[in-house]
Amino acid sequence: MTRRYAPTLICAAATALVAAALPAHANGELTVYTTREPGLIQPLLSAFSAQTQIKVNTVFVKDGLLERVKAEGARSPADVLMTVDIGNLMDLVDGGVTQPVKSAALESAIPANLRGADGQWFSLSMRARVLYADKSSKLTTFRYEDLALPQYKGKVCIRAGQHPYNTALIAAMIAHDGEAQTEQWLRGVKANLARKATGGDRDVARDILGGICDIGIANSYYVGQMKASKPGTDARKWGDAINVIKPTFANSKSGGTHVNISGAAVAKNAPQRANAVRLLEFLVSEPAQVLYAQANYEYPVRKGVALDPIIGESIGVLKVDPLPLTEIAKYRKQASALVDKVGFDQ
Ligand SMILES: [Fe+2]
Repeated sequence: MTRRYAPTLICAAATALVAAALPAHANGELTVYTTREPGLIQPLLSAFSAQTQIKVNTVFVKDGLLERVKAEGARSPADVLMTVDIGNLMDLVDGGVTQPVKSAALESAIPANLRGADGQWFSLSMRARVLYADKSSKLTTFRYEDLALPQYKGKVCIRAGQHPYNTALIAAMIAHDGEAQTEQWLRGVKANLARKATGGDRDVARDILGGICDIGIANSYYVGQMKASKPGTDARKWGDAINVIKPTFANSKSGGTHVNISGAAVAKNAPQRANAVRLLEFLVSEPAQVLYAQANYEYPVRKGVALDPIIGESIGVLKVDPLPLTEIAKYRKQASALVDKVGFDQ
């Protein structure tokens, strides 16, 4: 080694000393814009900071994530954009506020159908759109198409068709069965509604307990939230009133259930790109995936991570519809138009 390198070495040593003296920010920081509830995401971000010594600045954005990042433009401090629903993620990609990421860790942890082919977005956790059925029901299997069967007239509860959870499901239906058949189906489901398509997913369980409906469609994690609630609370009574079935699509040979995701992307103008990638890689690591399962009752995207015991017992292992989410997302505008066309939410 020649003398010329000496200053660099001194510099590196000094940096190491400073780093040792400042453990909280030793490896810099990073800014996350997220639409997820603080209570759900903060434990994961705290675990990341503890492990990496990277400080996380979290900005909770309730609405208008895309508009905000767009307006900030090249000066945006956002490194990671985090949200739920494939539609919201695709809006970020289509809106031009994300950038491609190549990471072996992300590619090996996340199945190909749950991330953008170009690394523009990644799923971090899954939620299944499942059937809640009255506990006395003898149902053990169900196809989404069955919601339109005449035998369920006046017995179906569901939230608004225009809610992203349902638009994604209807988009998946178009991808599997085609638009004409999906319209027919939607008219059938509308005719079977026990009440207006409104409220939230947990209201399906509430209204099954209340005798208003026998079956309904809702997300899987609410089952965990309700069944884990304190005995005697309303939520616990709703959770205890239902059985959960994982529906499949009639035309799909593979027999998977429709899922939606929570996910994230690296922001196009990320000032801390390397730290952003590190956070995404951390979020699909085993310990973080365990947190997603246990704190949020979600399904891990990483193989081999244990489910929350309540989810494991009441819903069980998930067989995911293998249709890529990007393929499903292509039909969401058509799905939304169909909801209006058949007056589903009227
Ligand atoms: Fe939700």
